[in-house]
Amino acid sequence: MRFTSVLLLGLAGLCASKPLLNRRWDDLKVRHSWVEVPRGWKLQGPAPADHKLAMRIGLKQDKLDELISALYTVSDPTHGNYGQHLSKEEVDALVAPHPDSMELVESWLAYHGVDPDDAVHRTSGGDWITVVVSVEKAERMLGTTYNVYEHEATSESIIRTMGYSLPSALHDHIQVVAPTTYFGTTRAMRATSFLEPGVKALESEADHSTELVTLGSMATISSSCSSTITPSCLRTLYNTSAYTPSATSTNKFGIVGYLEEYANHADLQTFFKKFRTDAVGADFITVEVNGGLDDQSDPGTEANLDIQYTEGLTYPTPNIYYSTGGSPPFIADSNTPTDTNEPYLDWLNYILNQTTIPQTFTTSYGDDEQSVPNDYAVSVCNLFAQLGARGSSVMFSSGDFGVGGGDCKTNDGTNTVRFQPIFPATCPYVTAVGGTYKINPEVAVSFSGGGFSNYFARPSYQSTAVSTFLTALGTKYQGLYNSTGRGFPDVAAQGQAFQVVIGGTTEPVSGTSASSPTFASVVALLNDYRISLGKAPLGFLNPLLYSTGVSGLNDITSGSNPGCSYAGFTARAGWDPVTGLGTPNFGKLQTIVESA
Ligand SMILES: *[C@@H]1O[C@H](CO)[C@@H](O)[C@H](O)[C@H]1NC(C)=O
Ligand SMILES: *[C@@H]1O[C@H](CO)[C@@H](O)[C@H](O)[C@H]1NC(C)=O
Ligand SMILES: *[C@@H]1O[C@H](CO)[C@@H](O)[C@H](O)[C@H]1NC(C)=O
Repeated sequence: MRFTSVLLLGLAGLCASKPLLNRRWDDLKVRHSWVEVPRGWKLQGPAPADHKLAMRIGLKQDKLDELISALYTVSDPTHGNYGQHLSKEEVDALVAPHPDSMELVESWLAYHGVDPDDAVHRTSGGDWITVVVSVEKAERMLGTTYNVYEHEATSESIIRTMGYSLPSALHDHIQVVAPTTYFGTTRAMRATSFLEPGVKALESEADHSTELVTLGSMATISSSCSSTITPSCLRTLYNTSAYTPSATSTNKFGIVGYLEEYANHADLQTFFKKFRTDAVGADFITVEVNGGLDDQSDPGTEANLDIQYTEGLTYPTPNIYYSTGGSPPFIADSNTPTDTNEPYLDWLNYILNQTTIPQTFTTSYGDDEQSVPNDYAVSVCNLFAQLGARGSSVMFSSGDFGVGGGDCKTNDGTNTVRFQPIFPATCPYVTAVGGTYKINPEVAVSFSGGGFSNYFARPSYQSTAVSTFLTALGTKYQGLYNSTGRGFPDVAAQGQAFQVVIGGTTEPVSGTSASSPTFASVVALLNDYRISLGKAPLGFLNPLLYSTGVSGLNDITSGSNPGCSYAGFTARAGWDPVTGLGTPNFGKLQTIVESA
């Protein structure tokens, strides 16, 4: 018996790439499918058979486990290798697919008449291959039907499918194929900022109340910072005012934008004149990624909020704004292939191909985790792990709907109400930032996104912090959230009524979109400090934050994040899924990172 099966396996191996066994490429097994059209999208009709798609194939990264363990080693302040980040070449070697995976995928492509040498793009690690194929061919390869779907809010049309299959023989070799079932696009993603209606804007720093409030030991802050945020409020509150960045030729700060959001140079100068006069004349640069544009006649609320506060808090640190395409949306009668229009992948593939990358990133976008296919989310999350291994700290806003927006029904066909965690905030390799408001003390702001992932298990760095919270929570909300999932956010910062100049006018803007750039700015200053001491940048922050970092954070112990028609979680002493471990105290964190 045993002998026979060994013999058969051997034969199968020998014939792996022989046409005789082509049957294997027709033995399709479902990889991912939806039971209903993702919310917010409407089926328009079949995709034209001859329309060209840029198909992105993510291969299994052979040494992913080694990459993750290297990530934790270089990010754990108690480890001898702390700060010994990997180079691009070292990461590329760990994410490369196994030669067998490459060979199998190439013979599958050849079977379908796709010459692998025609790949329009291959990542330097070899883990992502992009080929251009017609809709008709893609449908045969993936045993599916592509349709055109329209986004109800933006009228954007895209080509996607309700499900796709892969040959059984490839399931262990391919991580994800796109575009397939991820309906997120650069136009329809959710920015986590919103204008605050009915709140009066400040015309200048001088408009702050002269009434002072004493913070902690000695600092004083204007009482109006409790309702209106400017850079000076944050610099006082988070204790950065006394610090002047000096490693400005090395230390860089990246702000990632989507949704055709343009950061405006003139508005930044107006903002500086009003709220940070010593920085007047300082500017950021814009890098256009994958067809992203830089339309200075169309300032974006999100983009301006991000750049005005990152520059306002980290001046004179060089800030880079990444304007991520943005490919032309699908046009039915066009013969030019649509770009993949897979926002996270587009940006990540671009940035990971650079030899030198900024040490700090902030991104204020997110979507319900359940709207992102699991395979896709895992692939993207693993790409963030690469950024951490390379020595970059990656911040994401935690979302603006508390424990969940809307009716919070699951999309698995059962329509069960469950709290809705936000991706990428749930990725364990990013630092998720929730929101606060008020001062002395700060309080969790009600929209602060938080909860537990259904895709990613709880990482060990937060196991004590999160289980302490869950023990205190007891049986409350049982069944509404995943008690073994990664808890988020990790930290928090102010998120309400930030004064932002948009098209020359000052407007109050709120959201964890404001919190992420604020926390990330403190991190950029800490990176400046580390680099100025000749030390490595901080890289992936969470292992440090949940250990020695705790004493450099202000624990937020009141407020809650209602959503899904529930009262939400309540902030309490220690970590909580509303404000994480709390807001930063730069002075204290400086001491902590100095000895790390
Ligand atoms: C990666 O970088 C190299 C060198 O700068 C460049 O030649 C190549 O086109 C880049 N690839 C992508 C996919 O951006
Ligand atoms: C809960 O999270 C785990 C990962 O920790 C996951 O495997 C499981 O499927 C999740 N359960 C639900 C109901 O989503
Ligand atoms: C702010 O940081 C300084 C060190 O720069 C520290 O001495 C001081 O105690 C901190 N202030 C507060 C209020 O914690």
